[in-house]
Amino acid sequence: MIIKQTQFIKSSTTEAQCPKSTNPEFAFIGRSNVGKSSLINLITNNHKLAKVSGTPGKTQTINHFLINNQWYLVDLPGYGFAQVSKKDRGNFEQYIRAYITERKQLTCLFVLIDSRHEPQAVDVEFINWLGEQEIPFAIIFTKTDKMKPLALERNVEEYTKKLLEFWDELPPMFLSSSAHKVGRDEILDYIESIVVSSE
Ligand code: GTP
Ligand code: MG
Repeated sequence: MIIKQTQFIKSSTTEAQCPKSTNPEFAFIGRSNVGKSSLINLITNNHKLAKVSGTPGKTQTINHFLINNQWYLVDLPGYGFAQVSKKDRGNFEQYIRAYITERKQLTCLFVLIDSRHEPQAVDVEFINWLGEQEIPFAIIFTKTDKMKPLALERNVEEYTKKLLEFWDELPPMFLSSSAHKVGRDEILDYIESIVVSSE
């Protein structure tokens, strides 16, 4: 798919504030600092579009970017961010969960996992919750430029094993590196296959 047009539409903190349009949405979620905003910038080929920071907790709102006047990329805040007070974290996670469960336009949620780590409870619990809620999702292992090929393969295998403890089927999985511009075509092809089949 060729991205001809990218347009920032708005930032929201509730599902009700999100754009009224019914165009399909592809949202990015995962732990703070995992690389959600960077990946949106890689996909759109615009390093200034979504705000990126080395400090976790940069994205605090639900951000809608309209692509080719046809579908949205949605940048979400991260979960499991320890620097936010417990109360704020509760509110924060609640509105993200509300967006995920209430948003009818949400066509696929990409769950980003840092490829450097073994399976983390917070990610596995979140993925299991998505399964229970019957939310369509795919997994993207990020920051693969920081890994040697064999270690990367081992971590992906560990994740696969962990998920198969709970689920009979695995979701689609992708590898990405925003630093080395890896994964863009595969993720865009996947989005295109869904957008085209839903037309
Ligand atoms: P929050 O909005 O805080 O939840 O973070 P985020 O998940 O949006 O992460 P963001 O894209 O802001 O990136 C966090 C840090 O990781 C930044 O310093 C990025 O430059 C770095 N980063 C993101 N993706 C990659 C990658 O593929 N490779 C490497 N080496 N660094 C990356
Ligand atoms: Mg972000």
